[in-house]
Amino acid sequence: MQIETIETTPIEGQMPGTSGLRKKTRVFMEPRFLENFIQATFDAIGGGDGKTLIVGGDGRYFNKDAIQTILRMSAGNGVAQVIVGQNGILSTPAASHLIRLNGADGGFILSASHNPGGIDEDFGVKFNAANGGPAPEGLTAKMFEATQSISAYKTVTAPDVDLGTVGDVTLGEMAIRVVDPVESYQALMAELFDFDAIRALFAGGFTMCFDAMHAVTGPYAKAILEGTLGAAKGTVVNGVPLEDFGKGHPDPNPIWAKELMDLMMSDKAPDLGAASDGDGDRNMIVGRGAYVTPSDSLAILAANAHLAPAYRDGLAGIARSMPTSPASDRVAAKLGIGSFETPTGWKFFGNLLDAGKVTICGEESAGTGSDHVREKDGLWAVLLWLNILAARKRSVADIVAQHWQDYGRDYYSRYDYEAVPTDAANTLMAHLRGQFDDLLGQSFGNMTVAAADEFSYHDPVDGSVSQNQGVRIRFEGGGRAVFRLSGTGTQGATLRLYLEQYSGMDGARDLDTQVALADVRAAAQAICDMEAKIGRTTPDVIT
Ligand code: G1P
Ligand code: ZN
Repeated sequence: MQIETIETTPIEGQMPGTSGLRKKTRVFMEPRFLENFIQATFDAIGGGDGKTLIVGGDGRYFNKDAIQTILRMSAGNGVAQVIVGQNGILSTPAASHLIRLNGADGGFILSASHNPGGIDEDFGVKFNAANGGPAPEGLTAKMFEATQSISAYKTVTAPDVDLGTVGDVTLGEMAIRVVDPVESYQALMAELFDFDAIRALFAGGFTMCFDAMHAVTGPYAKAILEGTLGAAKGTVVNGVPLEDFGKGHPDPNPIWAKELMDLMMSDKAPDLGAASDGDGDRNMIVGRGAYVTPSDSLAILAANAHLAPAYRDGLAGIARSMPTSPASDRVAAKLGIGSFETPTGWKFFGNLLDAGKVTICGEESAGTGSDHVREKDGLWAVLLWLNILAARKRSVADIVAQHWQDYGRDYYSRYDYEAVPTDAANTLMAHLRGQFDDLLGQSFGNMTVAAADEFSYHDPVDGSVSQNQGVRIRFEGGGRAVFRLSGTGTQGATLRLYLEQYSGMDGARDLDTQVALADVRAAAQAICDMEAKIGRTTPDVIT
């Protein structure tokens, strides 16, 4: 098969953000847009010659076409073998696992995660490295540089490869193995968790609702929860992946998984409610009448992980992203293990996991995971919760209440201001950065500033430094506000304001979250001069 070299020129805006390159689908569909980025990736990793790659995506609109392009370009770049999920489907954690399991050189994952899908919505692509994790900053910088100087891409002319049947095919010299997307992932979960105990839990009448949000985890959850663990038929809802996610917003939080939330707060609530996002790496956990914040979920999973076989010997350490509440730090302190604070984005956990410094990590944005893969993993979190519930034989609400009693409660909420004009968002951040020294000791309503700075991360493994990772304001009495601009938005800027208030060991643990956060919110909005800088204080989304 003839390899073709096709001339191209750089295209604006190909900087990969915290989770790869995300754009409107129509932008990705423009000629050369995807091709340039894929070629830039090959150039950044030293070419494709003889390499093995994993390819798959969350099934959103354009997934199939993008995969065919990537297969042809892989052949054009001399790749030896591509392992691809049947029908182009792989959840992000399953793709990470396949990279590790097969000793592959890396993989392309097609997804815009929790962003809506469809021709008028979002699409994305990211490259994961040989450890199974998102490309580290050094590599994404190289990829970006390559997009700036690209002059040609390599491909082959060939009809679409049939990805509908599991088995081996070829594209020119390149071998393609089409695999069942669920099989090896399920085998990994069976190694980590006590499937017998979870089976007994369901057999004893335990009920659950898993909302797959018409996204990629549908087939995974059906096979594992209903097929293997004996959960009742119908436990998995919205379980058929759709190209537009049923026009929903596949983000597992109380806003976008409202139907599930309503069910869990009603008198028809099952014992456990859970949901996952577009590509299967995020999770939401709700007990009967009890929503578990992701920061609390991380802390509770860490505190109880020893109840699952894979973590029986204890954890090496716990990592959380900076805007995540410090609830998990207290667990680490009690366990006498290391705790790490990283910038937002899963890629920063990779080095810590590879170095064996941490076993469990998580983010406030509903991502939790462990050293079993190098991505956050939605179903993993759900299965660990199930394992803990099976071992402790208590309700989710009880376990959470007990945790707060033992450690105190971190009231937590995130406010998102979407599609803010980029200039206005930058002005607000600059305004914050300009007043760190003046803020110390100043009072805003009931809150007095104890510390103010911008987070920069010194990676303890490779020594790299990542600056400008968000402004943090700490208040006396356990309050904190964090401001940062999203790296995954596709329109203007998204300003995120993270609010938290620690109850202390003796404080009230049963307040309404927004009531508990009223003082810190007012202080945060005053400090950044929000009304004047972006013309509003009411967020688009509160989680
Ligand atoms: C968001 C989340 C972050 C997560 C990322 C990818 O990034 O806040 O925790 O790692 O999506 O799922 P952001 O848009 O805030 O940059
Ligand atoms: Zn995701």
